[in-house]
Amino acid sequence: NRDYADVSMAVIRRLPKYHRYLKDLMEKEIYRISSRELSRLIGFTASQIRQDLNCFGGFGQQGYGYNVEELYNEIGKILGLHKNYTTVIIGAGNLGQAIANYPSFIKYGFQLLGLFDVNPKLMGMKIRDINIMDVDLLEDFVRENKIEIGIICTPKEVAQNIADKLTKANINGIWNFAPVDIKVPNNVTVENVHLSESLFILSYLLNEKEHFKKK
Ligand code: NAI
Repeated sequence: NRDYADVSMAVIRRLPKYHRYLKDLMEKEIYRISSRELSRLIGFTASQIRQDLNCFGGFGQQGYGYNVEELYNEIGKILGLHKNYTTVIIGAGNLGQAIANYPSFIKYGFQLLGLFDVNPKLMGMKIRDINIMDVDLLEDFVRENKIEIGIICTPKEVAQNIADKLTKANINGIWNFAPVDIKVPNNVTVENVHLSESLFILSYLLNEKEHFKKK
């Protein structure tokens, strides 16, 4: 087990992209690749790639390139994808149901054990065999089933309250889709997905091009 404590978060945030491209390569039965070819595929510079991957013991060999499968497995391990995680979704509306219906997360070991909502019309319904339950049962369910990840898909007004409940029930991580920054103690990890932030960057970039044209 190598120690990756020194690796910067900027490098870590690039790993899912490497992981995705390496998987594509394996599916195409390509088993080794140079940093230059990877660079052409991914768009990072070859020196960036060498620098990033050197953090993990440098799988590349001069004249050989990278062993795709080894690198894929190692990056998967760094990302913790070799483990299984138990999850619940809170808010079984449009987004909650869409995530519950998405099979890829399960493939990577994120097992969904329950959906929670307040809407009586949804109680007793199932998404892919997973029950939608009353959110009043959330804390007990998380404790009893040792749920590790809570996925918040509620309106933003209640997201903090849900995060507090999850925290009380000893959750490890929260994947938050509500457009609000929730506060949790240090022992809980939050990763936010604020789709509108990404959309607004696209909007900025579109306008930046316009400004250029006018100059
Ligand atoms: P929605 O209105 O379809 O679903 C929200 C669900 O949360 C409803 O079923 C509602 O009954 C439930 N809910 C309300 N209060 C609750 C509580 N205290 N406990 C448990 N469940 C509760 O809304 P949608 O579209 O699914 O969005 C959910 C959240 O995700 C919102 O915060 C939204 O801003 C955010 N979001 C949605 C995206 C989308 O593509 N739909 C994209 C990005 C963010």
